[in-house]
Amino acid sequence: MVVKVPTVKLTSGYVMPVVGLGTYARKADPGQFRQGVEWGIELGYRHIDTAAIYKNEEEVGQGISNKIKEGVVTRGELFITTKLWCDRHAEADVLPTLKESLNRLQLDYVDLYLIHWPVSINKNGEDAEVDYLETWKGMESLVKMGLAKSIGVSNFNEEQLGRLLAVANIKPAVNQIEINPTFTQHALVDFCKSHSVVPVAYTPLGLISEARPEFIGKDVIKTDPKLGELAEKYGKTRAQIALRYLVQRGIPVVPKSFTKSRIAENLDIFNFELTDKEMAIVDGYNLDHRCVPGTAWAKLKYFPF
Ligand SMILES: NC(=O)c1ccc[n+]([C@@H]2O[C@H](COP(=O)([O-])OP(=O)(O)OC[C@H]3O[C@@H](n4cnc5c(N)ncnc54)[C@H](OP(=O)(O)O)[C@@H]3O)[C@@H](O)[C@H]2O)c1
Repeated sequence: MVVKVPTVKLTSGYVMPVVGLGTYARKADPGQFRQGVEWGIELGYRHIDTAAIYKNEEEVGQGISNKIKEGVVTRGELFITTKLWCDRHAEADVLPTLKESLNRLQLDYVDLYLIHWPVSINKNGEDAEVDYLETWKGMESLVKMGLAKSIGVSNFNEEQLGRLLAVANIKPAVNQIEINPTFTQHALVDFCKSHSVVPVAYTPLGLISEARPEFIGKDVIKTDPKLGELAEKYGKTRAQIALRYLVQRGIPVVPKSFTKSRIAENLDIFNFELTDKEMAIVDGYNLDHRCVPGTAWAKLKYFPF
C-alpha cells in the first residue's frame, strides 16, 4: 500500500511532506542506504533526509535515480534534504560544497539545504569561529541560483535562530532539531512556530530506539503500560504513537529505518488521532534527555546546547 503523506507549507512557498525518511546510520553496508531509499519511495515516502557528513549521498542518490528511472516517482514529486557540514561554513565554501553534494546525489537541485550545526570547525576539528550569519549569506545565494529551493538550519537554539531571523533576507524555512516524547522541546518549538520556521523532529523515536545506560529504568516509554494500552487501542506500535504525537503537534518527522517493515510502519500514522488526554500522556514522558548532546563541541563558540 502506498501511503499519501500530508504536507506542510514552508515560508519559501514550497511544501514538505510531514514524514521523511532519515538515512543516518553509524554503521551500515552501502547497499543498505540505497535499498532503504528504494523501499521508502516504493512505500510512499517522498521526503528523504541526508547530509554530507552521513557519507551516503551517493547511495541515497542511486536509490532515488533508480526509482525515477523505473517510473515509480518523478523528481518533482520528491523532497530531498541535505546539509552543509561544519568545516565548510565560510561563505565562499557554501556553493562548491552544495555542488559536491548535488553531484553525489545525481541531482540538479535540493529541495532543502540546511546548516547542519551552528558551530564551525577547521579540518583539525578545532573551533573555526565562523559566524553562521556569514554562512547564511552563502546559503541565500543558492536559492537565487536555483540550486536549493528552500534553506534552513539545524540544531539552532532560540537565541541563535532569533539572531539569524533579525538579519536574514531569506528566512530559514525550518529548524531541524531533536524532538521526541522524552525530549519534548516545547519552548523552542513554540519559538520556531511563532516565527513561521517549521520545526522538524530528528531522532523522533528517541529512547524508544535508544536506551542510554544512564537512563535504563527511566526509559518508561519502552515499558510503560499506559503507552502499551494506547498502542493496543489503535492497533499501532509504541513507535507509531510517538510519531503520531509529534505530527499532531504540527512537527514533521524524519524517522530512520533500513528495515522494510519499520519503514512502512513509520509512515502508517495517518489513520488515527490521539485525544488531548492521550497527547498529554505522551507529553508526560519528557525527561529533557538529549540522545544527540553534541558534547564533544561543548567548548566551541557557537555551541547551541
Ligand atoms: N540534524 C541533525 O543533527 C540530525 C541528528 C540526528 C539525526 N538526524 C536525522 O534524523 C534521522 C532520524 O534520527 P535517528 O536516526 O537518530 O533516530 P530515530 O529515527 O529516532 O531512530 C532510528 C533507530 O530506530 C530504529 N527504528 C526505526 N523505526 C522503528 C520502529 N518503528 N520501531 C522500533 N525501532 C525503530 C531504527 O532501526 P532499523 O534501521 O534497524 O529499523 C534505528 O536504529 C536520521 O537518520 C537523520 O536523517 C539529524
